[in-house]
Amino acid sequence: MGEKPAILVTGGAGYIGSHAALALLDAGWPVVVLDNLVTGFRWAVPDGAVFVEGDIADSSLVGGLIDAHEIAAIMHFAGSVVVPESVENPLKYYDNNTARSRTLVATAIAHQVRHFIFSSTAAVYGIPDTIPASESMPTDPINPYGRSKLMTEWMLRDTAAAHPMNYCALRYFNVAGADPAGRSGQSTAGATHLIKVAVEAALGKRDGVAIFGTDYDTPDGTGVRDYIHVSDLAAAHIDALEKLIAKPNDSHILNCGYGRGFSVLEVLDSVDRMAGSQISRTMEPRRAGDPDALTADNRLILGTLPWRPEHDDLDGIVRDALAWEKSLGEKA
Ligand code: UD1
Repeated sequence: MGEKPAILVTGGAGYIGSHAALALLDAGWPVVVLDNLVTGFRWAVPDGAVFVEGDIADSSLVGGLIDAHEIAAIMHFAGSVVVPESVENPLKYYDNNTARSRTLVATAIAHQVRHFIFSSTAAVYGIPDTIPASESMPTDPINPYGRSKLMTEWMLRDTAAAHPMNYCALRYFNVAGADPAGRSGQSTAGATHLIKVAVEAALGKRDGVAIFGTDYDTPDGTGVRDYIHVSDLAAAHIDALEKLIAKPNDSHILNCGYGRGFSVLEVLDSVDRMAGSQISRTMEPRRAGDPDALTADNRLILGTLPWRPEHDDLDGIVRDALAWEKSLGEKA
């Protein structure tokens, strides 16, 4: 096999993008990271990647990069990801996740990029009628974050039908954990995600964890989610890339999850177990817009890609998140 072509990774200084950049480099793909460093960190860009500081909507910069590095595919992670913020400031989300993505896709088409992989989200399902949620179910997001991502899925679908480009939209469930080798992890301050919040509490960076709702229609009354290890998610992107190249006429929308769920209490028990201490817990009312349970029907990704989960283990996810959280103090 000949030399692999270069891949442009937008948001490669962020949490999931940096793990995908690591996975690409580990698999021998040259990587160009484009990140505006608004929420990303320069040090999170893996050694071995070319780093360019800039915005996805800067067409002349992006077009120049595509040409100079002969970019074969774009993995597009850059965007805004905080659901409550999207409710407060919807236009920021329609700008960062929708309008700027449109500009990026247009630049990709103008510069003959043939393959596009997009970070989508389980938030496109809103509150599903049945779980596990499958890709064939109707999408009905309940917040601007989910809508801003769904609109980009639609743009990609229409663009791929009209131009010589195929795409894969990966709908992430609850991404957690960190690179098992300790090279990257979730680093953004002020996180709201359960596992991040809980490991911060376990390490004394917070007083404790508030449990948002104990009267859900779930076995123990707390919310159930499908937590996927970020390294498994990164691996799915590599397999998606190879699939897009092998079958240039086919595009895909695929759930990324393990197909099982853990409750808030199960997650907190795991953190206590792995940290060897007890996090203090308080019971709070439900958080607006939270579904009882959300898990992935992952049969489509298992049938489409060679991808198989390698870190489907809650304690392992928590262990890696804890190890990363410990090492973070030494970095920022
Ligand atoms: C949400 C989105 C997801 C998105 C992610 C990005 C939905 C359905 N999901 O995930 O698509 O990618 O945000 O930000 O919109 N919890 C607590 N205490 C806490 C934090 C969380 O009890 O301090 C509970 C929540 O109520 C929920 C579970 O833990 O039951 C997971 O919450 P979180 O980690 O915030 O993720 P989602 O809201 O599921």
